[in-house]
Amino acid sequence: MMTRREWMRQAAAVTAVAATPGLLSGGCLAQAPASGDQAITGTGSLKAHAAARGLLTGCAVNANLLREDEGFRKLLADQYNILVPENCLKWNMLRPTDDTYNFADPDSLVAFAEAHGMKVRGHNFVWHEALPGWFTGTVNKDNARKFLVDHIHTVGGRYRGKIHSWDVVNEAIWIPDGRPDGLRSSSPWFQMLGPGYIDIAFRTARVADPTALLTYNDYSIEYDNDEEGKKRAAVLALLRRMKGDKVPLDALGIQSHLHAVSKDGFSRGVRELIDGAKELGLQVFLTELDVNDDAVATADMAERDNIVAAVYRSYLATALEGPEVKAVLTWGASDKNTWLNHGTKFRKQHPERLQRPLPFDPDYAPAPAFFALRASLDKAMKR
Ligand code: G3I
Repeated sequence: MMTRREWMRQAAAVTAVAATPGLLSGGCLAQAPASGDQAITGTGSLKAHAAARGLLTGCAVNANLLREDEGFRKLLADQYNILVPENCLKWNMLRPTDDTYNFADPDSLVAFAEAHGMKVRGHNFVWHEALPGWFTGTVNKDNARKFLVDHIHTVGGRYRGKIHSWDVVNEAIWIPDGRPDGLRSSSPWFQMLGPGYIDIAFRTARVADPTALLTYNDYSIEYDNDEEGKKRAAVLALLRRMKGDKVPLDALGIQSHLHAVSKDGFSRGVRELIDGAKELGLQVFLTELDVNDDAVATADMAERDNIVAAVYRSYLATALEGPEVKAVLTWGASDKNTWLNHGTKFRKQHPERLQRPLPFDPDYAPAPAFFALRASLDKAMKR
């Protein structure tokens, strides 16, 4: 099997051919880089191309890789102007016990970002997942509000003025729970505090860090189908209700976990979301972009990568059409570390191979998705 680096060397060789329009279908190979790294760092980097359009571009950071992998740190410094912790700001990683916090990893991430002039997104203050083992036996209806408010003041306060935007509440809509408003009533926070937990969190976050852009973040709201349409409507209704009640809210986070093979498009859905956010005066961030390629039939790696790159290009062509989206973050930088390869949960159709959903391959070499992302940034309206 040809490695990415071998394929790149071959791609560079065919660039001359690719530069001849129509010679290669989909033109993806045409974006293969000129030989040599300078094509993808410095002025060729994602951050340089994003900044030229007034955009932020970044990725989720695994704290272990940041600590242990020099190549990963170089990739981050070369490519991005905003970072988000993949896990180390979640309750289960941050709260070893009910009265202690472990800030070592988020401190390192914030320090790394500051040292490289990057912004940081916070993820997340309230989520129904990634709760610590002690949570269920300790947090109850009587003390849940105090736990929530203390957590947001402690964590938000520690990084006050250092965080570009916080995902204050993550994934609070779940249509299958059957509520008319679509709220996820199965969430432990909803169970203990009712629907009011959302406003408590946003009002507390504003006090804890008045400069951070307070974001509501959700997934499966991108595609043009009934299921995601219902969820999209519920998300927009929640945001309208919050604005109506003067709850501090500054942005919508569209996670953007996409699929390389899908019978549905996303041009209408994404437009609806962005227009809905715009009407409410909200900024929009693409917070967790990646392309699940498990359903791609071909085993040919180059073809798989081209299909993934084509989804990046068409999704970003829609999402970056107008000025509303201010930041594009992928959920990880390289296929070396992606949640889609944790076990085989997301590799049902092809458990024999690893997914390739991100702009850089496991060797940190740029994949076609890198060039698709960079070209999409170039085509974006200047914000
Ligand atoms: O670090 C421990 C390790 O010590 C232990 O040996 C191992 C065995 O279970 O678990 C490791 O922790 C795992 C952690 O990822 C770090 O790899 C947790 O079990 C695992 O649950 C956790 O998964 C994360 C998941 O959120 C739940 O927090 C994924 O990495 C992360 O990519 C994923 O990200 C979410 C966003 O926050 C919200 N949107 C969807 C997205 C994908 O699910």
